[in-house]
Amino acid sequence: MSEQAKLEIGGKVYQLPIVVGTEDEHAVDISKLRQESGYITLDDGYSNTGSCSSAITFIDGEKGILRYRGIPIEELAEKSTFIESAYLLIYGHLPTSLELRRFSDLLTQNEMLHEDMKFHFEGFPPNAHPMAILSSMINAASCFHPRLMEGYQPGNFEVQSARLLSKVRTIAAFAYRKSHGLPIIYPKPIYKYTSNFLHMMFSEPYEDYNLKPEVVRALDLIFLLHADHEQNCSTSTVRMIASSRANLFACAAGGVCALWGPLHGGANQAVIEMLEQIHREGDDGSKFIEAAKDKKSGRKLMGFGHRVYKNYDPRAKIIKQQCDKILESLHINDPLLDIAKKLEEAALHDSYFVERKLYPNVDFYSGIIMRAIGIPIEMFTVIFAIGRMPGWIANYKEIMDEATTRIYRPRQVYVGPTERHYLPIEKRTKNA
Ligand code: SDX
Repeated sequence: MSEQAKLEIGGKVYQLPIVVGTEDEHAVDISKLRQESGYITLDDGYSNTGSCSSAITFIDGEKGILRYRGIPIEELAEKSTFIESAYLLIYGHLPTSLELRRFSDLLTQNEMLHEDMKFHFEGFPPNAHPMAILSSMINAASCFHPRLMEGYQPGNFEVQSARLLSKVRTIAAFAYRKSHGLPIIYPKPIYKYTSNFLHMMFSEPYEDYNLKPEVVRALDLIFLLHADHEQNCSTSTVRMIASSRANLFACAAGGVCALWGPLHGGANQAVIEMLEQIHREGDDGSKFIEAAKDKKSGRKLMGFGHRVYKNYDPRAKIIKQQCDKILESLHINDPLLDIAKKLEEAALHDSYFVERKLYPNVDFYSGIIMRAIGIPIEMFTVIFAIGRMPGWIANYKEIMDEATTRIYRPRQVYVGPTERHYLPIEKRTKNA
């Protein structure tokens, strides 16, 4: 008999099973609570609620630990590549050379978009935000693959998932080129994933982009570090949509929309806008920090704080080191990096941030690298979405492979008007 939790309500004691994960995380299973007691639980922002059991990514927020399928992010950042780590997340093990070759070939075979999709790009206004284009074009791309609409079939998941992972970068690059009035640059099969993306973004019809190894490596690392992160807002959204058995592309399109918010993936763009504002105002950061501590200012220290990490985000540590390397190798002196470092130093010695355990998260330094590479700020969250695609795909697969997964349908506590009746319009008064 597994360990039980006891809950006493109105003099009656309810026994609730306790679930223990492989990293010794403990949870009270309340699946039968309403049926047995008539009570539900309420948890603002789901801070204390596990929506599922998952074997994909482990985070220990107190210790600043992040592992993809058990492998520490620091080891993957040093030794792996984005596509190899994507395979690890999706299939649960590091690929053999044969498996990696097949996966890479599938990505190459699926890198092009249906030619008719160009007409969809034509329909967007020049200033359309690339995240809006990305979410709509992922769904549009699915229309050209009818088998996708048959829903999850283990037999065709390998091709469907490679199709999504490959095309998301083509859509992103085409969106960038379109919004800047530039001719579309088609992918080249000789290039691997990240190189091909940079080629499609920055080559010209008359001249291929100069793929500097340090730039390719820096962007590949950014993708890898963003590849998955347990049940964050956008991944939970993907799982919510997947629980209704919608198709993979529909789930990814929903994930893009959730990621867009400035409190989530949109933070990397907001951090650079914050640093540029501090730089423009000649502030050494102290004024901004004071404002971020004052709730009435409506300002936050973007790139700081995290729902799970109450310690330094391990990804931020790695990205910060990479910032120094890439700026040095490209001979760039970016004043925003100096401002970011000063902000971090000041915040980590300020009781407001220390007491609330607010540390730099993945978004605090990532924009510095993307700026150095020449990626425009409106594309920062798109880069995050490309990176996060393997995590969304892995969570989609986990739900679909789990035969017992039921549709996600949270309950609520109703606080609206109690029963009242229809009033003919002539009898209504203001705010009736
Ligand atoms: C990502 O979930 C994931 O894993 C996400 C992610 C991933 O890989 O998927 O890691 C990616 O989204 C990283 C987070 C990017 N967002 C930002 O950097 C935006 C700035 N950060 C905050 O908005 C905030 O820290 C959140 C949204 C990240 C977390 O919010 P929580 O968990 O709801 O925390 P909270 O708002 O309850 O904050 C607790 C306290 C509050 O003050 P008090 O009410 O206790 O007085 O800390 C304060 C907050 O006001 N606070 C901040 C702050 N973050 C929290 N104050 C100033 N600046 C901040 N950045």
